[in-house]
Amino acid sequence: MPISLETLTAPEPDGSASGLWPTNVKRVGGELTIGGVPASELASEFGTPLFVIDELDMRQRAAAWKLAMDTAFSDLNGAKVFYAGKAFLSVGVARWMKDECLAIDTCSEGELRTALAAGVPGAMLGLHGNNKSRAEIELALDSNVAHLVADSLAELALIETVAAERGASASIVLRVTTGVHAGGHEYISTAHEDQKFGLSIASGAALRAIEETLAAPHLDLAGLHSHIGSQILSLDAFKAAAAAILELRATAAATFGYVIPEIDFGGGYAVRYTVLDDVPPAPSHYADALAASVRSHIEATNLTAPRVSIEPGRAIAATAGLTLYTVGTIKQVQLEEGSRRYVSVDGGMSDNIRPALYGADYTVALASRCASDETVVTRVVGKHCESGDIVVKDAALSADLAPGDVLAVPATGAYGRSMASNYNLLPRPGVVAVRDGSARVLVRPESVSDLLALDADA
Ligand code: LLP
Repeated sequence: MPISLETLTAPEPDGSASGLWPTNVKRVGGELTIGGVPASELASEFGTPLFVIDELDMRQRAAAWKLAMDTAFSDLNGAKVFYAGKAFLSVGVARWMKDECLAIDTCSEGELRTALAAGVPGAMLGLHGNNKSRAEIELALDSNVAHLVADSLAELALIETVAAERGASASIVLRVTTGVHAGGHEYISTAHEDQKFGLSIASGAALRAIEETLAAPHLDLAGLHSHIGSQILSLDAFKAAAAAILELRATAAATFGYVIPEIDFGGGYAVRYTVLDDVPPAPSHYADALAASVRSHIEATNLTAPRVSIEPGRAIAATAGLTLYTVGTIKQVQLEEGSRRYVSVDGGMSDNIRPALYGADYTVALASRCASDETVVTRVVGKHCESGDIVVKDAALSADLAPGDVLAVPATGAYGRSMASNYNLLPRPGVVAVRDGSARVLVRPESVSDLLALDADA
């Protein structure tokens, strides 16, 4: 299919206007600056590839979710926002979230210890996972994690054992599957039946888990949880899932005489990756849709309103971040329908697996200087030994692009560094936070020496 330059042209970095770039990005003297720091300065000081996070932008997104939920649930029983650390977590980011009054959702010992290292108290922590180790459960109990999210009947039994050993009581949130299937890609849709997460409402496993939790001497049933997938634009999908989980709460109240105090609606709120993507609903639209579902539930059942929580990850981190790469080899490839320019950069699938894993599309701009008027259809590719190692599939980039130019790929703040690998033994990039004209390292860039340090024979 011929590629039209018109649809490919990435909007110039313009702060929040296109919804693709961090708010504090602009061009100064032709060069992209992020949080007041020129791209070329970041590239030369910290090297490329480099993840750059606009601190104020990320904090503002976190604060916007908190405000939207507090407002929507002000006449109900209040709301809590957990930042889903899997999108990107470091001690610095956990501190930002704590400052903005967000809780943190973790899903491994590594994430939990990172949040604890930031001084986040157990009351503001959740722990997920479909296969938690005994050590992870012990750590969660010892840290008084408020949302210990149980994913199976077997896990409930293990948590009961570990809690009993400690003479403690575990605050359990049961992850249930509502049957609602939403979100962009099959691999990131998590509420249909044929997948590994949660306790199915349809099969009766969820109700049985409620019964077992209530009967267990060392388990406290704090809540129910549902997460229906990622990158979900449809408010109706959230409403359908909310209706299903709230109905389960009503069934539990009628069957066991116990009103489950909390409901967590999970994450999955969408962001914009390219100009071709729809503009996602604002946090207040998602929050209002969830609050409307809760209101109809309490009207229909006369139960007290649950305390509600949500777990946005991408919607807080993605657009706050971008990746800088340096241009290397440039190659013109002849195709039957014309020719395509391949521009290789110094990273690729080891710092952003999403194009290879989900077919995700991104956009890109020349960051270190002004582009020429003429643009060329370009594929930006990485330096890995895989032909699927694509950074940006189709982009309109300056015709005079040259080795050494710095490119910026926006919307990589979520699931970039957190899913990075050492494929081909590439060191993983560092992450810097920029704010008010200065840059601060959040995560050090790895070096080949770091990799060799793990090699027992080196
Ligand atoms: N809560 C739970 C229980 C989750 O499993 C997830 C994501 C979230 C919250 C946050 O979802 P978000 O708001 O960020 O969409 N690596 C993939 C997405 C898989 C995420 C898995 N769980 C990606 O790069 O798109």
